[in-house]
Amino acid sequence: MSNDTVLTATDLARHYPISAGAFKSKLSLKALAGASFTLERGKTLAVVGESGCGKSTLARLVTMIEPATSGSLVIGEEDIATASMKALAHLRPKVQIVFQDPYSSLNPRQRVGAALEEPLLVNTKLNASERRARAQEMMANVGLRPEQFDRYPHMFSGGQRQRIAIARALMLEPDILVLDEPVSALDLSIQAQVLNLLTELQERMNLAYLFISHDLSVVRHIADDVMVMYLGRPVEQGPAKEVFANPSHPYTQALLSATPVADPNHVSERIVLKGELPSPMDPPNGCPFNPRCPKVFEKCHGDRPALQNISDNVAVACHLFD
Ligand SMILES: Nc1ncnc2c1ncn2[C@@H]1O[C@H](COP(=O)(O)OP(=O)(O)O)[C@@H](O)[C@H]1O
Ligand SMILES: [Mg+2]
Repeated sequence: MSNDTVLTATDLARHYPISAGAFKSKLSLKALAGASFTLERGKTLAVVGESGCGKSTLARLVTMIEPATSGSLVIGEEDIATASMKALAHLRPKVQIVFQDPYSSLNPRQRVGAALEEPLLVNTKLNASERRARAQEMMANVGLRPEQFDRYPHMFSGGQRQRIAIARALMLEPDILVLDEPVSALDLSIQAQVLNLLTELQERMNLAYLFISHDLSVVRHIADDVMVMYLGRPVEQGPAKEVFANPSHPYTQALLSATPVADPNHVSERIVLKGELPSPMDPPNGCPFNPRCPKVFEKCHGDRPALQNISDNVAVACHLFD
């Protein structure tokens, strides 16, 4: 483990109990069924996959909003399953989250300045003028103007509101920022601005990002590592450069083929996945991707493929690599 590692997740899982049918048998939905990864200072792990694959569930575990069903999560020096209340209280401010929709994460009746000062009021002993100074400094850091301090969220555009949400998340100088679809609700031109801001802030504050997106084109430039998920499980994981240049899992290939590439000479054939995404309540036997996989063969109906290294850094869960 390097000195820059701020989080280590091992076989992290989260199951939700569901009652099915007349007999109300205790079934469980495996929203997340075993993810292992690390987060490093100054680096971005991108988590990608279609809606329902468990991305937000993962975000809730990492931000300690919910406990894991199994597996371990070590943040800083603490295993959060066994950490004391006191240790957890110290840890929580170190992991912050930004959601897709800044409309719902900001209180419409609270002025922006007060929203930014609130975490300081709750967690620090700074006095009023110190808090104000910190909040104004952070506004400048995210590209907002000091005269906007006393305005209400509705007076801002979507992109500006997301800047406010980012500023608020950074007030306590976290180590880790979880970004759950942070630009998915924004216009394309605004997306680029917010992504640039995030890159800048990461460098300046040496932040570890867990960047969640259903859209590979969004993470292409910001990701150092990527974890592609399908029905609650990582199916391909590795350095973003390698995965983007040479996607190995048929699912990653399909996701990438649907992603626009700026290069006009790049001719790619779009892989259209057959069928609907299966329900995670009733995942297919064998490889969970087999009903939609363009490369499906006999073995895929047998065992579920384990995640295995296919090179020094890249791991893939696919029988093509057995
Ligand atoms: N609290 C919950 N109770 C039951 N099922 C849930 C709960 N939260 C999420 N799920 C289910 O877990 C799966 C993963 O959801 P989620 O993590 O939100 O996916 P994503 O963010 O990738 O769209 C989905 O099938 C979803 O319906
Ligand atoms: Mg989600």
